Amino acid sequence: MDRLVIQGGHSLRGRIRVSGAKNAALPCLAAALLTPEPLVLSNLPAVADIRTMVKVLQALGTEATLEAEGDGFELTAKLACAGSDDPKAPYELVKTMRASILVLGPLLARFGRATVSLPGGCAIGARPVNLHLEALERMGAILEISHGYIHASVKGRLKAIDHAFEKVSVGATENILMAAALAEGTTILRNAALEPEIGDLAQLLVEMGAHIEGLGTGTLTITGVERLHGCEHAVIADRIEAGTYLCAVAATCGDVVLDRCEPEHLRSLLDLLERSGCVITEREGQDGRQLRIQRECGQKLRSKDATTLPFPGFPTDLQAQFMAVMTQACGISVINEGIFENRFQHAMELERLGANLRTDGRAAIVAGPAELTGCTVMATDLRASAALVIAGLVAKGETIVDRIYHLDRGYAGLEKKLQGVGARIERVGGGKV
Ligand code: UD1
Repeated sequence: MDRLVIQGGHSLRGRIRVSGAKNAALPCLAAALLTPEPLVLSNLPAVADIRTMVKVLQALGTEATLEAEGDGFELTAKLACAGSDDPKAPYELVKTMRASILVLGPLLARFGRATVSLPGGCAIGARPVNLHLEALERMGAILEISHGYIHASVKGRLKAIDHAFEKVSVGATENILMAAALAEGTTILRNAALEPEIGDLAQLLVEMGAHIEGLGTGTLTITGVERLHGCEHAVIADRIEAGTYLCAVAATCGDVVLDRCEPEHLRSLLDLLERSGCVITEREGQDGRQLRIQRECGQKLRSKDATTLPFPGFPTDLQAQFMAVMTQACGISVINEGIFENRFQHAMELERLGANLRTDGRAAIVAGPAELTGCTVMATDLRASAALVIAGLVAKGETIVDRIYHLDRGYAGLEKKLQGVGARIERVGGGKV
């Protein structure tokens, strides 16, 4: 199993190009199930989750190819879904990636039936799919759960609903948005999630011929059409990847420009980092927007509190990385996790590196600045791994981050991008360390 070996204590300087957003790419890939025509998706990050979703689509009767773009950090997918006699998303694939549940709505809408494995538990909380299932049932789906699978069918087409989600859910909004695009009648989705990745999916659906109003608001109105067509679409920049590199520079010191990112998607983090003392500038580059972050060596960071909330609130997917930054800030920072009930597993590993922190339920209290010293740490999930890398970049001496298959699920070329800005970080095969 690969590990990352980091020699900490070096500031980061240079440029990093931000890849396409994994969390936008996954629902956009699932949208290929909505049409028999070819769909070409570019700027997909070259990460394991994208390959898993393509395998899921292939298992569901989709012809799919993935080709590397430019430097290999992004991929283009060419997809055409003729369908299959027995559309089934198997446990072996779904268990490795919960977002596989996003195929359920499109399959039901286009083929009238689907079998999808229940995703099961997850390292960061219970993560049920009840919100997805409740809305689909209201649209006329007959659902039966047995042997670990959701067996779903519908007589005729799915029917439009006026539906208020009980809780804001990114995945449920995406699933029902796709289902409604081919349903009979006009669906109104209230309390819909506002994450930029939903805007990107909606944009793709519109390019495919869907009728959607209310983009960028919590109420989406979708008038179903009988068929959608193919198109070409480039997914948006990954705000979480960009935010991770911003946190890495804030924690270690340095001066880095992020190319091809969207500052509007990162306001809550930019605001916190600026208030804690980093200098952030935005400008239009040749290749999209740019963000520059500067924290000169010796310049003190101020501690700031953060609470994770649905967009435009502070993202739960940056909570672990921000905690790593706060270990270096002067004073006490209180970090509240408002989305998932069990998302502080990185805290104990950060403590092993020397962080001074406590967790209590959904709150973590970080006292800084702490002198971090390298050791071997083990990652429990994708973003927790990123936090450990950031802490390793700060820590004196050598840090080894184990179980980096979590990182490979969501970061394209992480160690290469960090090497490009001066980090001493190397990927080593398990047997060699
Ligand atoms: C997506 C992101 C994930 C991010 C999360 C929150 C993808 C592929 N993943 O996950 O990286 O951390 O949004 O921003 O885009 N819930 C229910 N019932 C449901 C669905 C969700 O109770 O049927 C709860 C969850 O347990 C959680 C909250 O709602 O507490 C938000 O989850 P949700 O927005 O659905 O997260 P995902 O779409 O799974």
